[in-house]
Amino acid sequence: MNSEDKFAHKAKEYDALQRRLDTANAIAAKIKENINLTKETHIIDFGSGTGLLLEALSNDIAKVTAIDISPSMTSILREKELPCKLDIIELDLTKQDLDIQVDGIVTSMTMHHIKDIKTMLEKFAKMLKSGGFIAIADLESEDGTFHDTDTGVEHFGFENEDLKQLVQESGFKNCKIETVTKISKPHKDFNVFLLTAFK
Ligand SMILES: C[S@@+](CC[C@H](N)C(=O)[O-])C[C@H]1O[C@@H](n2cnc3c(N)ncnc32)[C@H](O)[C@@H]1O
Repeated sequence: MNSEDKFAHKAKEYDALQRRLDTANAIAAKIKENINLTKETHIIDFGSGTGLLLEALSNDIAKVTAIDISPSMTSILREKELPCKLDIIELDLTKQDLDIQVDGIVTSMTMHHIKDIKTMLEKFAKMLKSGGFIAIADLESEDGTFHDTDTGVEHFGFENEDLKQLVQESGFKNCKIETVTKISKPHKDFNVFLLTAFK
């Protein structure tokens, strides 16, 4: 077990929680409503984890490049069979670059682990073909009680308008944000947004 792997304690049981599947499915449904995915589409899933989001999209695309820093989370994804091509790349995207060009980048529940959002958005823009899309799903601004273990949280969710501005400043157009679902925990509910925009 890698001592730097912040998800090592969660990975094996990650998919057992129905609310995580429900969240990924709700995000995927809203992505499909907003983005024209085809059997030619190659996407990156940033912070792919065990692959819950990409599984829900895999019937509608040609290929996914799954990027994740956590060996324990990617080891669960490696065991899955998908109806599209899958490349798994284990790396820290805040520290390394990936020299590929894709049609779209999806990311779910990962951006709150990223300190410098603007730099990451600019990195996304470099990996996208002209006209390519981003689809970012994460928590709306919360009070810090969503996480009960330390998985490296940098943001207590996001203010929609602040994130929208950063996205626009990073060169994206036609930015749209909407609440897609909520995650119910025993003490309260947490809203999840989907932001879509185009290069
Ligand atoms: C909360 S999980 C979400 C997993 C999946 N997207 C989902 O919705 O079920 C966040 C994932 O982001 C990954 N992650 C966090 N920081 C990262 C980084 N700098 N580079 C690559 N992956 C990262 C973690 O390892 C983890 O698997």
